[in-house]
Amino acid sequence: MSDDKIVLTGIKPTGMPHIGNYLGAFKNSIDLSQNHKTFMFIADLHALNAVHDAKVVKQHSYEAAAFMIAMGVNLENTALFRQSDINEIYQLTEFLMNVTPKGLMNRAHSYKAMVEKNTAANIDIDSGVNMGLYTYPILMAADILLYNSDIVPVGKDQKQHVEFARDIAGYFNNIYGDTFKLPEPVIGEDCGLIPGLDGRKMSKSYDNTIPLLCPTSELKKKVMRIITDSKTPEESKNPDESTIFHIYKLFANATETAALRKRFLDGGMGYGEAKTILFEKIDSVLSEPRAKYEHLMANTKEIDDILFEGAERARKVASKTLAKVKKKMLGL
Ligand code: TRP
Repeated sequence: MSDDKIVLTGIKPTGMPHIGNYLGAFKNSIDLSQNHKTFMFIADLHALNAVHDAKVVKQHSYEAAAFMIAMGVNLENTALFRQSDINEIYQLTEFLMNVTPKGLMNRAHSYKAMVEKNTAANIDIDSGVNMGLYTYPILMAADILLYNSDIVPVGKDQKQHVEFARDIAGYFNNIYGDTFKLPEPVIGEDCGLIPGLDGRKMSKSYDNTIPLLCPTSELKKKVMRIITDSKTPEESKNPDESTIFHIYKLFANATETAALRKRFLDGGMGYGEAKTILFEKIDSVLSEPRAKYEHLMANTKEIDDILFEGAERARKVASKTLAKVKKKMLGL
């Protein structure tokens, strides 16, 4: 991947990400930010179709920003900002409305899921659907196209949205001539393959997640809750069927992983001990970012300063793109 490619990602502020969220999308963007020019924003406008409490949006936005900083995003290469701070985003969204077919929105997964739920419940298909939800992919296309992005790291669930951004860019280019680059999604690890505490897919809706930067005591409680089979300590255990081992692999290096694999197979280690090993590993890997996160959350002015500076950098690019679009669409 050539280094002059521009990386862009948005983080919807929905509370502390869990391990699945992190590996599914954020880790890729943090890694890419180490050697690419990166635009990274807190997608607070995208939260509004579901969250109607400003205090919650604001708090979760700080958490999302503190999280990305604590996990090591490269702030020299990255403009980190709030989506809502860039006025051009509202404008580009409005412009793109006019080249986006309604039918494309009808095919969006999240809208279709609502329609299916409503149909099954025998109520109006659009019940509970506001226009923020319905036009969510247009705002997201505007996010991506405003900053001339080449690479968009996202979780698997967001792949369709990036494809829509390509489609919308294509519709625009067809009418008005070559204007927007077509962005490429980069998909992270499949969250569906990361087991939660109960062995099912790790997901907030199953209440089986391990939040990434929670206090040590909470982390310990969660790890101890992992469901296992009833093998005795003496028995040999299959590491590949164990949630404990699977999660350990995500945090440990190859040597440590091989050593734990051997202990599973050899027998003589109870699940209690295996959980303690897992807890200690996660705890040590995350202790530094957790301290940084807690520091930032106690000093949100530091986050504000970073977001302010990031918005200034983002605006420089955004205003140029918008000027081009206005000229093409309005002749102004
Ligand atoms: N929709 C994304 C999510 O729910 C967040 C997001 C908004 C985003 N705008 C974006 C991601 C642009 C990548 C690029 O996670």
